[in-house]
Amino acid sequence: MEPEIIQRFLESVGQKADVDLYLKLFRAQSKESFAIIAADAQIVRSALDPFHFDLRILAGLGLHPIVLLGLFDARDADRQAQRVYEWLEEDQVPARVIPAGSNLSTEVVATIHDATVASTIPLVSLEGAKDATTEERFGHLQSLAAQLQTRKIVFLSASSGLEREGAPSISLVNLARDYERLLGKGNLSRRHNTLLRQVKTLLDRLPQRMNVAVVNPLQLLRELFTVNGAGTLIRKGSHIETHKTFDTVDRPRLRALIESAFGRPLIDAGALEHTTRSLYLEENYLGAALVSASPVASYLTKFAVERQAQGEGIGGDLWAALVRDHPCVFWRARPSNPITPWYAKQCDGLARFAEWHVFWRALPPAKIESAISYALAAPNDFQTPQAPPR
Ligand SMILES: CC(C)(COP(=O)(O)OP(=O)(O)OC[C@H]1O[C@@H](n2cnc3c(N)ncnc32)[C@H](O)[C@@H]1OP(=O)(O)O)[C@@H](O)C(=O)NCCC(=O)NCCS
Repeated sequence: MEPEIIQRFLESVGQKADVDLYLKLFRAQSKESFAIIAADAQIVRSALDPFHFDLRILAGLGLHPIVLLGLFDARDADRQAQRVYEWLEEDQVPARVIPAGSNLSTEVVATIHDATVASTIPLVSLEGAKDATTEERFGHLQSLAAQLQTRKIVFLSASSGLEREGAPSISLVNLARDYERLLGKGNLSRRHNTLLRQVKTLLDRLPQRMNVAVVNPLQLLRELFTVNGAGTLIRKGSHIETHKTFDTVDRPRLRALIESAFGRPLIDAGALEHTTRSLYLEENYLGAALVSASPVASYLTKFAVERQAQGEGIGGDLWAALVRDHPCVFWRARPSNPITPWYAKQCDGLARFAEWHVFWRALPPAKIESAISYALAAPNDFQTPQAPPR
């Protein structure tokens, strides 16, 4: 497929800046680590058209996911792999059927690895493990993901994601917070229940940072190339540390995180340190919220998630920790910031000005005016981008 056609298609999927960012990220990873996509019989039977289109686009971009067939039910997986192969072959997309055998030996894993490195999509059939239990086949998936350091596992679904009966699909599952509740009676379908249990085991056992998504093939590219994603993203949940001073944190790492999130250098990191009274930090320095004391109430000065990790729910985890300790808080954001509509949902009130929107939670009415004045007068912490030379 022509590269410009692919690029134009991707731009219709999401904002160009997001698409370019993810593309850069995926291409920077080792080829074999990009993604494993599990497709079941129903997808091959009734959604092969959109799925093979996804694979065509990905291959055209130099991305070669591993396609796994027969995870839930391995009967007939060889034939499904062959069918996907024929569709791809017709479009000259390099692919190769690889039978996993009964136990996905290291030789098979090496063959899968070599196929991706040679820019070929491995279509891995689990039919050889058809007498094993679903759990054991998930064990094979775990071993494959561990050996190839996989960064993303996608479960294709006929639904648009994990769904509770009669409700729209869930966009984000934070296992640390939502797991028990979702497994409760009458929540998920039996199939999604099993999937969630298996995914939890997978994420608990795999050491690398990895995301899991459940998505319809029609939304797969949106899931891969946009911050908001599509379908259901399942995460382990972040561990948020609380600090009262910068003495207990790695200052350059924190600064790098803030500058990466905002895409601009700080004017004076020392001043930020001086005013901060509480710091919420994701344990791997992927996100931070900084709170200062003001005469009015707690003032949120920085809320930032590493550019590459945005849209994965870390912001939500930080927010929960922040409002737990600071129920009464106010903050500001640029009207054009994409997060502004989300802030509007989190606040009890807001005031709109041309340069800033000011938000607050649990603020007594008598303090609102002072909060607004304080936020509007707060200094700008970032260097303004230089005008391009004329
Ligand atoms: C704002 C920021 C901290 C959010 O962190 P995050 O980890 O990406 O956020 P999450 O994935 O937890 O998402 C939280 C919510 O924001 C929404 N959201 C996140 N990024 C979004 C985007 N680019 N556009 C629209 N909504 C977005 C999510 O959909 C989610 O809403 P939901 O709970 O209703 O589904 C992060 O995007 C960031 O660092 N941005 C740059 C710095 C910045 O602008 N900070 C705020 C300055 S006031």
